[in-house]
Amino acid sequence: MLGNVLVIHGPNLNLLGKREPEIYGKFTLEEINKEIRNFAKKEKINVKIFQANSEGEIIDIIQRESEKWADVLVINPAAYTHTSLAIREAISSVKIPTIEVHISNIYKREEFRHHSFISPVSEGGIYGFGKKSYILGLQAAIYILKKR
Ligand code: DQA
Repeated sequence: MLGNVLVIHGPNLNLLGKREPEIYGKFTLEEINKEIRNFAKKEKINVKIFQANSEGEIIDIIQRESEKWADVLVINPAAYTHTSLAIREAISSVKIPTIEVHISNIYKREEFRHHSFISPVSEGGIYGFGKKSYILGLQAAIYILKKR
């Protein structure tokens, strides 16, 4: 196995499929997770996937999994992208290489989405490709794993 990739979906992403389908599409989180697992199997990486609606829970997962297991983090922080100094500092504290992922192109949308607290502590980001953003995020994770 090439390495361990932690995938975190932030708040309200459990509602995918029902939530603003004109922006986020009709696919469910379960469908995304299935694609992530299939891709991981094919590419020989281990994945652990979490979804959490609260900031503290996301921070606990980052702290716990980066200490014991994760080599790379792929995270869609959802609305916390634009508000959470605490999640940013969790990432910068544990120093895990991080890829920021968004389903929509946040820079094409409202101005309050144009600022990300997470980008400055990320290796890079992927946004605007619907559910494929996650697979592209995993490809970036593989690139990082192969480089180390
Ligand atoms: C999102 C974009 C965020 O601005 C928004 O708050 C989300 C989803 C995306 O994946 O496009 O919840 O992260």
